[in-house]
Amino acid sequence: MTKLPIKSEVLEYTKGQLSVEKVEIAKLVKKTGTPVYLYSKKAFLDQFLELQKALDSLDHLICFAIKANSNLEILKLLKSKGAGVDSVSGGELFRARKAGFSGNKVVFSGVGKTDREIIEAIQYNKTGILSFHVESIEELFRIDAIAKKLKRKVGVALRFNPDVDAKTHPYISTGLKENKFGLQSDELDEAVTLLKGLKHVSLHGLSIHIGSQLLNLTPMQDAFYRLLHKTEKVEKALSYRLKYLDLGGGIGVQYKKEDKPISLTQYGKLIKKVFSKTPYKILLEPGRVISANAGVLVTEVLYRKPRSEKDFLVVDASMTELARPSLYGSHHEIIPVEEALFTDRKKQTTDIVGPVCESSDVLGRDRDLSMQLKRGDLLAILSAGAYGFTMASQYNSRPRPAEVLISGTRHRVIRKAENYADLIHGES
Ligand code: LLP
Repeated sequence: MTKLPIKSEVLEYTKGQLSVEKVEIAKLVKKTGTPVYLYSKKAFLDQFLELQKALDSLDHLICFAIKANSNLEILKLLKSKGAGVDSVSGGELFRARKAGFSGNKVVFSGVGKTDREIIEAIQYNKTGILSFHVESIEELFRIDAIAKKLKRKVGVALRFNPDVDAKTHPYISTGLKENKFGLQSDELDEAVTLLKGLKHVSLHGLSIHIGSQLLNLTPMQDAFYRLLHKTEKVEKALSYRLKYLDLGGGIGVQYKKEDKPISLTQYGKLIKKVFSKTPYKILLEPGRVISANAGVLVTEVLYRKPRSEKDFLVVDASMTELARPSLYGSHHEIIPVEEALFTDRKKQTTDIVGPVCESSDVLGRDRDLSMQLKRGDLLAILSAGAYGFTMASQYNSRPRPAEVLISGTRHRVIRKAENYADLIHGES
């Protein structure tokens, strides 16, 4: 069997063609068109259930980070297995409500919650949400004032910035002192003191999130112990016990051959080692690890531009469908859908670029790809299920693509491709 550049239980060359589960990509995109996001139901569930299993003996709730993949059908799928959600905006709270999450399964993070968002969270499904993850002292006062007006008492957690270096890309590192996120140790102590004077918020927990795409458990372990230490201090000051600790998300995935992701079993073991003897419910906010390798973005080759140093393949997907490579220089494996083009030994150094009028519109740089690849051939951009569609834009007036969920031999369009009318929606 032809070996793929990254490990996958759901992608495979069969009968000379790349398939997602039992669906041949080439056949499917004849119906859907390209570019298109294809998701595997099995891949989402496998990851979610494996994480759940890794935490089995622990009282826990996995709150999927909506920002990674916010499609309603994906949210409903995870909900059906017992997931909660981590939201960071009023829009994500709206999606959570539409997907049917009850308030006690919703947490609300985010460094700049507006009054409107705070009201929406307090009034979520009438009951309100499980936890506001408070990021500043001013926010704490704001929530208290709004809760007072609405005659409610709301549960909050303080987001602790544990000052550990997650050693990931600086744009997705969040747990260092210089980052805008969370309360530094002394700010958190002050917040606890001030809380005592506030009648409409109750402190139920602490939360952390130190960064994303972490491929090493050591910074997480450091952060967990710092969190535990802080919890003891906070409880002394409060003279009561907290109910939950939220460990955030951040587990990395395999994007390229060399990446060695953290095993979910090891991650679970670490969490159990640190927290199993504590009385707290453990909340988690994983996004990428559940969704990244459940999705591919399929694109068609439009043109080849041969150059002396390397060729360019211009494709019909771009930074507007998948922003990660142009925004962070992220690597996504890009492979031909036709097996013969994948295994072809006559390769050429190639940049895969989109049609957008920006030099940064590059999906893959210096890739060794078959010289035979030409107009009409299909490429699959792997690991695109997290921060793919959710970061898509309409720049250059490009309608956003469809999302399709595959299960076994079946597929379902779970978001239609936008059309030109969608581009001017709301313009007078
Ligand atoms: N919780 C909080 C408070 C977060 O800020 C994030 C991600 C998560 C959970 C989920 O993290 P995950 O498990 O997915 O690593 N657009 C970037 C990633 C930004 C992550 C932002 N926060 C990318 O494409 O790599």
